[in-house]
Amino acid sequence: MKGKTNSSLGKSWRIAVIGGAGHVGLPLSLVLADRGFHVTIVDTDEARMRQIQNGDFPFLEQGGAELLAKLREQGREISYTSSYKEVESCDIIIVTIGTPIDEFLNPSTKAIIRCFESLLPYLSDRQLVALRSTVSPGTTEWLDRYLRGKGKAVKLAFCPERILQGQAIQELQGLPQIVSGTTREAEEMAATLFSSIAPELVYLKPMEAEFAKLYCNVYRYIQFSISNQFFMIANSAGLDYYRILEGMKKGYRRMQDMPRAGFAAGPCLFKDTMQLAAFCSNEFSLGSSAMLINEGLPLYMVDQIARQYELSNLTVGLLGMAFKADSDDPRSSLSYKLKKVLLFRAKRVLTTDPHVKGDSELVPTEEVVEKSDLLILCAPHAEYKNLDSKNKPIFDVWNYYGRGGLI
Ligand SMILES: NC(=O)c1ccc[n+]([C@@H]2O[C@H](COP(=O)([O-])OP(=O)(O)OC[C@H]3O[C@@H](n4cnc5c(N)ncnc54)[C@H](O)[C@@H]3O)[C@@H](O)[C@H]2O)c1
Repeated sequence: MKGKTNSSLGKSWRIAVIGGAGHVGLPLSLVLADRGFHVTIVDTDEARMRQIQNGDFPFLEQGGAELLAKLREQGREISYTSSYKEVESCDIIIVTIGTPIDEFLNPSTKAIIRCFESLLPYLSDRQLVALRSTVSPGTTEWLDRYLRGKGKAVKLAFCPERILQGQAIQELQGLPQIVSGTTREAEEMAATLFSSIAPELVYLKPMEAEFAKLYCNVYRYIQFSISNQFFMIANSAGLDYYRILEGMKKGYRRMQDMPRAGFAAGPCLFKDTMQLAAFCSNEFSLGSSAMLINEGLPLYMVDQIARQYELSNLTVGLLGMAFKADSDDPRSSLSYKLKKVLLFRAKRVLTTDPHVKGDSELVPTEEVVEKSDLLILCAPHAEYKNLDSKNKPIFDVWNYYGRGGLI
């Protein structure tokens, strides 16, 4: 199942990364270009491609701006296009587009289907198509049948991305890469490609690999939910969860990976848990419970505040609107869910974030602190470590300030 790095590489391969301007696609494109491959980013977001082309890395990603600058300095230009036609001349097509869930919390297959409908005229049997987006189990085999039905016998692989957003550049080159293919040839070509960046390969069958990727994310989501549930139980009993957690962990090896309580959401964990639930006909009670707990945490916090304060008289300040610490990504952030609930229940809600762009309602941190009666630490960004809270009460569910999780 495990394999060592294969060093004989097809460096002359031309690679197209579909969705290459995104959080998964861009770091991968840059790392592949750094390894000497000729990379073409194919993306529907032309504005973002222009931004990258101008040397501006579009989101927070450790080492991303530096790697982009290095490639530009070395004249290793990446090509950018929104036209699928460019794919025709490529040897490898890596697909990294978003794979959302729909309003019924089921995987939305539209994006992948539309993408492949558009790609069809430009695909040929010599090419490798490597799916890298997170997909519902069975998607790769379904796609294989679909493409063959259209007369396209491309080599098809599923090689999931498992990076931590924000640390992609480093993790792409440090994590074992799961490789699977619908044929031996597809698997071998994908292995040759990924052995150029990953230290180790792990071989699975396509559906095993699809499950492995989902299980990794769902496991994390469930871990967070356990801590969140424990937090709410302790808090409701009038106890500081963090005193208990510290006591549990001290010198006790088996508890070391227990996470803190806090907002668990973002573009992947929630939707991947729902993808798995949909796959097993919504009979994934553990996943559904984790979702209710994690999504319920902000609601619980509002109720706790309302028990202690006349909420309708309070101005509440939310610190950190990104979905996690030190990120600029507001996608599926629970901070916005909290804001929505508070807009109905509090006198006023003020929001701030040092990284999130494009939200015209954000105000400077100092203004939020100054004007709020109560603060909620939503995303524990490094910028808030030495916050002057002017003695305003802070609901710090993360225990970021080490004063416990109680308000
Ligand atoms: N963000 C992460 O940390 C992470 C980690 C592992 C896996 N994933 C998975 O990777 C996939 C992509 O996630 P992301 O966070 O990079 O999303 P994203 O929205 O940041 O990037 C997707 C990119 O695809 C482009 N795009 C969408 N449809 C397109 C099309 N038809 N043709 C060409 N370009 C198109 C978008 O413009 C965007 O630039 C998802 O399946 C996600 O679950 C994400």
